[in-house]
Amino acid sequence: MCGIVGCIYKKEPVLDFLIEGLERLEYRGYDSSGVAVIEKGALFTSKQEGKLNQLKKALKGENCSSFIGIGHTRWATHGRPSQANSHPHTDIDNEIAIVHNGIIENFQELKSELIEQGVQFSSETDSEVLAHLIHNQSQAGKIPLEEAVRLSLKKAKGAYAIAVISSRDPEKLVGARLGSPLIVGIGKNGNYLASDVPAILKQTNKVIYPNDGEIILLTADSYKVFDLDKKSVKHKVHTIEWTLDQVTKNGYDKFMLKEIHEQPKVIEAILKQRNPKGEQISFEELNIDEAVLKGIERISIVSCGTAYHAGFFIKYFLENNTDLPVDIDVASEFRYRKPKLNSKILVLTISQSGETADTLASLRLAKSKGCQILSIVNVMGSTIDRESDGVIYTHAGPEIGVASTKAYTAQMTCGLLFALYLAQLRKEMDSKSIKAMLKEAHKLPEMIQTVLKQEKHIAEIASQHAYAESALYLGRGFNFPSALEGALKNKEISYMHAEGHAAGEMKHGPIALIDHKLPVFCICPDGDSYEKMVSNVKEVEARKGLIISILTEGDKNLESISKETIFIPKIKEDLTPLLVAIPLQLLAFYIAETKGCDIDQPRNLAKSVTVE
Ligand code: G6P
Repeated sequence: MCGIVGCIYKKEPVLDFLIEGLERLEYRGYDSSGVAVIEKGALFTSKQEGKLNQLKKALKGENCSSFIGIGHTRWATHGRPSQANSHPHTDIDNEIAIVHNGIIENFQELKSELIEQGVQFSSETDSEVLAHLIHNQSQAGKIPLEEAVRLSLKKAKGAYAIAVISSRDPEKLVGARLGSPLIVGIGKNGNYLASDVPAILKQTNKVIYPNDGEIILLTADSYKVFDLDKKSVKHKVHTIEWTLDQVTKNGYDKFMLKEIHEQPKVIEAILKQRNPKGEQISFEELNIDEAVLKGIERISIVSCGTAYHAGFFIKYFLENNTDLPVDIDVASEFRYRKPKLNSKILVLTISQSGETADTLASLRLAKSKGCQILSIVNVMGSTIDRESDGVIYTHAGPEIGVASTKAYTAQMTCGLLFALYLAQLRKEMDSKSIKAMLKEAHKLPEMIQTVLKQEKHIAEIASQHAYAESALYLGRGFNFPSALEGALKNKEISYMHAEGHAAGEMKHGPIALIDHKLPVFCICPDGDSYEKMVSNVKEVEARKGLIISILTEGDKNLESISKETIFIPKIKEDLTPLLVAIPLQLLAFYIAETKGCDIDQPRNLAKSVTVE
C-alpha cells in the first residue's frame, strides 16, 4: 500500500533521498508516484502515473537544491491511478503539499463543505481534502504548520499517515499517524519520516515509533511529538539492527530469490536463539505469565495471506503435540464472525509487517474481550508488536519481495517452538519426545540447503508448466496448508490460476478440472498421510493429470507414475512443511520468471495491507 517519505536536511539537497527512499518502498505495491519540495520559497511538485522510472524521467534535468521535501508511492483506493490522483496533493494557493496513506472516511462530507467555501478540487481522492483543510486552518501562514495540521486532523475520521510541508513554513516537516504506519528517523544531517525502515536505513538507524493520534514536528536538527490535544509525548529512540545489505538485492536479481536463499540462516538463527542447546526452549520477550499459559483452554490463530497458511500449519502442530483445541481464521472473517471470546482463550496473531489492518482489528477485538494476545511478528516496533501482550519475533530481517517466503518459514519455526514450549510447560508431551522433535528441527537448516541445491532441476520443471492455464496443489494433514501456500505463491507472482486443496476433498469438485493438460502438484512426503496421498495421486493418474510429486528421498513408489519428482530429505512428518515450502516457492518463482512477470512487485498486490 502507499509509501511515504519525508526529509528535512541541514544543508544537502533532498531530491535524491526522496527518490531512493521511494525505491526502497516499492515493495509495498503502487501504481503512481510523486514528490514535492520547497524550491526558492515556492512549492514544486512532480507526479506521474506508473513506475518510479516515469517520475525519474520527469525530474531529469530539474536542478533542485531544496533541503526539504516529501514523496509518495500511491496504491489506488479512491480514484483510479492517474497523474491527477497521485500524491502529493496541494491546496488552491499551492502553499501546502501533503502525502497520505490510509482512507479519510468522512472525506465526502469535508469535501462538500470545502466546495461550498469555493475550493476547487483537482483529484478524485479522499486525501486532497487534507491539503485544503490544512491550508484553511493555517490562515495564510498566521497559524504554525503543526497547529494547522492538528486542527485539520481533529475534523478527519478514518486512517492516516501523512507528511506535510508548507512554503509559508519552510523550516518544518510535519507528520501524523492514526491507524497507518509512520516512523521517524533521527539523523546527523537531518530528520526523516517514512512508512517503513528500509526507506531511511542508509541515512540513519535511529528511529522512533509514534503512536496512533500523534503529530510529529521535525526541523533539520530537532523533533517533537505531541498528541491531538497538544500534549507533548516522549518516545524512546530505538536502534535498528537491520543492515543495508538486507534491504538491497546483494547480488541477486530479485528480492524474492534472495529471500528464498536466506531461509536456512533465518531458521538456524531462530532455533539457536530459542533452543541453543537442544534442551530447554525459552522466549524472553513472551511477557505472558507461565500461570496464564498453563490456564488457557483454547488457542485462536488469526492472520492473513501467507501468514494464515503458517498459522494453519501451527494449528496442526499444536493439535498434534499439545492437548489444546486450536481454531484458525483469516482475520477479515474473524473480526466480523462474532467469535465467542474470553480470558481463557489465547489469541495468536501472525504478521510479517505487524501492520495488516484486518489482523490488527482482530487483535483489538480479542483484547477488548479479555483474551491474552500473543503475536508472531517480524517488524519490531510495528503496531501489532506494540499492542500485543507478548511477542515472538521472527528476526527474519526485512522481507521486501511482495510474495512472502522467509517470513513464512520463520513464522512456522517460531510457531512450532512455541507449541513445544507449551507442551513442556503444560506437561502435555514427555521430555524425551520434545527433545526428539527439537533434534529433528535442528536439522532443518542443512536440509533446506540440500533442497535448494535442486534449484536448477526445479526451474526446469517450472519452465515446462509455465504456460499451463491452471494448476492444482494437493496435500493432506500437515501439508494441506502447504498446498494452499503453494497455490497462493504461484498465482500471486505468475498470475496462473492455481488452487490448493486438501487431497481428500479432490473428489468433491476439483477432480473435474483434471485432464492431460493440468499440472497437479502432489505433496506426498513420508508419514501417516502418505498411503492416503498415494490413492489420491492414483486418481489423478487415472484422469491423465500431469503429476509433479514432492517426495521423500528414496520413494520409488510414486516416482514411476509422476511426470516429474522433487525430493526432500527424510524428516519427521510434523516438520515436512518447512522443507516442502522451498520447492513450492522455487516453482512459483521460476514459473513467473519464465513468463517474464514482475516478481518482486506483482500487479495489484501490496506487501503491507494497511486498509481493510
Ligand atoms: C499481503 C502480502 C502477503 C502477506 C499478507 C499478510 O497480502 O502480499 O505476502 O502474507 O499481506 O501480511 P502480514 O504482514 O500480516 O504477514
